[in-house]
Amino acid sequence: MSEGINDHTRYIVDLRRHMWMDGIEVELRRLIWQIAVVGKYISAKIHESNRKLAGFKNVYGEDQLALDRISDDILKNMLKNSGFVREYASEELKEIAPIGQGQEKYIVTADPLDGSSLVDTNLAIGTIIGIHKNSVFDCGRNSMVAALYITYGPLITMIYSAGKGVHEFVLDREGEYVLSEENIRLNEKGAIFSPGGLRRDWTDSHKRYIDRLESDGYKLRYSGGFVPDINQVIIKRGGIFSYPALKKSPQGKLRLLFELQPMAFIMEQAGGRATNGKEDILSLNVTSVDQRSPIYIGSSAEVTMAEKFLSQ
Ligand code: F6P
Ligand code: MN
Repeated sequence: MSEGINDHTRYIVDLRRHMWMDGIEVELRRLIWQIAVVGKYISAKIHESNRKLAGFKNVYGEDQLALDRISDDILKNMLKNSGFVREYASEELKEIAPIGQGQEKYIVTADPLDGSSLVDTNLAIGTIIGIHKNSVFDCGRNSMVAALYITYGPLITMIYSAGKGVHEFVLDREGEYVLSEENIRLNEKGAIFSPGGLRRDWTDSHKRYIDRLESDGYKLRYSGGFVPDINQVIIKRGGIFSYPALKKSPQGKLRLLFELQPMAFIMEQAGGRATNGKEDILSLNVTSVDQRSPIYIGSSAEVTMAEKFLSQ
């Protein structure tokens, strides 16, 4: 360990040091660090916009919308000046925005504030990021180099993978992201399920799958926020999150580029799986920025079981 480190940090591993020890190349390290810092600003905005804190009643729901856009602006502006990002694709923007000079290494995809409609309930929400090296119009397996998400809950946590395992950091009171769990690995099988969509809109095969999970004793854990719902599968070392094809929307609800690819990248790195029922999420070709896909993501036993039910 290097000299000159304050006593109180001697025994902790912060995010920058962890990435350095992991041998992640310098530009990617700096980019991930910058995005983690953006998480602090977004968290501050969440606090600031809290009308309960200010004694207001949240009647119009406009704050949540504004919060999405503010988070997007903060992220985009930060990345604009980073020197590492040539394009920025966000759930908040219709098209991919060129934000660099053109020769920068990375393209960043973002769902800047997922689950923002949950803000007034004080449930956890999050930021989801994918980092790509070539065009995003490819499959994730070819184009992705890293992914991360930040949870804004009782604690602020950041989970990242740059292709060398999955690691969790907690933002401490000094503003440092401190390593809390290294090399997170899922068990083969979990004990919880998070089923998205309305039961009346599910297909028969999906319904049978969920019935089986219920009769096998899986516990229902669905918050309605994609980030915390995925996070509990990761932190509890298994389980399944699904957002299936619905009768009226066969591509489901969630977006491939901004939501599904980053979580699939992290889940695979933790030893889990993610499919649309037939193909791995990271094998699907992205042809448009707002492409959606059904998803079954979690520990491998439950994902494999989903594939069996859906093929029947
Ligand atoms: O971004 C979409 C989202 O809010 C996710 O965070 C969440 O998983 C999903 O929608 C919840 O959808 P529903 O309200 O249909 O359960
Ligand atoms: Mn979202």
